[in-house]
Amino acid sequence: AAPAAQQQLSTAAGGAAARKGSIVQRLENAFQEGIDAAFPALAGQVGAIVQPCNNPKFGDYQCNNAMALHGRLKGQPDAPKNPRAVAEAILAALPETGMVAETSLAGPGFINIRIDSSWLAQHVTHMLRNGIATWAPLGYTGQKVVVDFSSPNVAKEMHVGHLRSTILGDVIARTLEFCGADVKRLNHIGDWGTQFGMLIQYMAEKREGGLNAATDEDVADLQVLYRAAKQRFDEEEDFKTRAREAVTELQSGRPEYLQAWQRICDASRREFQKIYDRLDVTLEERGESFYNPMLKPLVEDLMARGVAVESDGAKCVFVEGKDIPLIVQKSDGGFGYASTDMAAVKHRIDEEKADWIIYITDMGQSSHFDLVFAGAEKAGYLPKDRKVRIDHVGFGLVLGDDGKKFRSRSGDVVRLVELLDEAKRRIVDTVKERRPDATPEEVEEASRAMGYGAVKYADLKNHRTTNYRFSYDDMLSQQGNTAVYQLYAHARIASIVRKSGRDIAALCQTAEVKLVHEKEVALALTISQFSEAVESMLEELLPHRLTEYLYDLATVFNQFYTECQVVGSPEEDSRLLLCEATSLTMRACFQLLGIHVLYRI
Ligand code: ARG
Repeated sequence: AAPAAQQQLSTAAGGAAARKGSIVQRLENAFQEGIDAAFPALAGQVGAIVQPCNNPKFGDYQCNNAMALHGRLKGQPDAPKNPRAVAEAILAALPETGMVAETSLAGPGFINIRIDSSWLAQHVTHMLRNGIATWAPLGYTGQKVVVDFSSPNVAKEMHVGHLRSTILGDVIARTLEFCGADVKRLNHIGDWGTQFGMLIQYMAEKREGGLNAATDEDVADLQVLYRAAKQRFDEEEDFKTRAREAVTELQSGRPEYLQAWQRICDASRREFQKIYDRLDVTLEERGESFYNPMLKPLVEDLMARGVAVESDGAKCVFVEGKDIPLIVQKSDGGFGYASTDMAAVKHRIDEEKADWIIYITDMGQSSHFDLVFAGAEKAGYLPKDRKVRIDHVGFGLVLGDDGKKFRSRSGDVVRLVELLDEAKRRIVDTVKERRPDATPEEVEEASRAMGYGAVKYADLKNHRTTNYRFSYDDMLSQQGNTAVYQLYAHARIASIVRKSGRDIAALCQTAEVKLVHEKEVALALTISQFSEAVESMLEELLPHRLTEYLYDLATVFNQFYTECQVVGSPEEDSRLLLCEATSLTMRACFQLLGIHVLYRI
């Protein structure tokens, strides 16, 4: 059974008052006070800059303000003569925090900071008693965030790009939720557009009774339907014309057309759901069709206010610095991808009251989103005063072993369900080898966690903008920075705690972490840096910051465990707490990464 500490993996909603932020945030607050007190003339103008120390030999963190401050103070009466003198003045005015053991000056005026080990010990003890949600970075609680991700297209194959979007988006959403944000996970599926004319017309002509005779069998394999319809569309001029008419029938709401459309959407939805179930991802469907009724009034409004103008028959929003305009209505009167995205921005701000909107697609769509954001700003949908943050989170390609675009052996788009299940299938033998006593249910649970987790982790561990090679062998390796390695590392630590025979939940409430050995101090510091990992991941929306942190943590734990005996040592209590804090922090990372945790493997 899962230890009691698992309950602590809740979210930070509502608990903001009890939280004080990461070590960096706390140090920045202290240095801010010091800077403002030492140089009151500049108060409020200079933000404290604290970051992890470039060279851990000299300190854990460093403050880098002295050089720039010296430049700004030059020429003023009583200006410090050099950056080191500025640094000394800051240190003299630094408030007492209990966090800093010692400081030293380096180079032109860097301030190195060593964190006090008894403060660290207390910090970890406090987390064990109060839950890791108390370590969630500040500033996100209560924020309304729309995360637009996954967003496959109906009746077209969901491809690896959508898989990446699903995995990345889910991690961003989970992390924001952990930090207390109010997240709306929107699936902006492509469920509207001209491709439906082709599909519906094909269905209509397939049976004698036309659309009224259509059944679910006609949409059972959407890829087959799509290919067959597309072939006729490309080859037969007459069919093309009839398909265009079908679009008009659909848009005017003719019942049997709407019904056929619904049938296709339902079939797609069932396919998508198979992926979401495997990945344990939840999404709220709000496809392009949702915005359809808003498009005509939107364009009318844009034209009336002169934001959009007519150009070559199309209605366009021209934005400064862009060569091409945003087309909000095509010359044939149709609305496209961009029209819908404009309506979506407006809706998300006006109706959803979003403080932050995040879009996750491949980088190929960067210029589309640049235009939409600029257009939305010009139209006044993105208000300058009510600060709304809007981000396009772009990502690179998934490549095959040959370094080319990822394809199945037959050259087709890879079926994602098969891709995921193959990862799971390939890990089964490893699971059985490592735990011959496991029940079939346990083998199933472990291979799901490791197989699906491996696919996610392999995707997340790369900087999202790079292209990466999809390799089952690499992602399922028990060595190195993989989900399989991390899950084993966690299970091993959990088993140290379990096999001690101690009641760890009770120990967390009564015992205290004590840090004596240097590896204990290093471990406690790394555990505490969880908050910074989460913080930096959200600042730049870079999920690999979390996997990097997790890998660091496992490495630092190994160094501790090699040198420090836990069970049976005089320091057993404190060291068991360190083990528990490590595994708890790892579980928090798994929660954010969307990887199912295993306790015994
Ligand atoms: N359906 C689109 C595609 O497959 C992605 C949609 C992304 N979201 C958006 N609001 N445009 O490329």
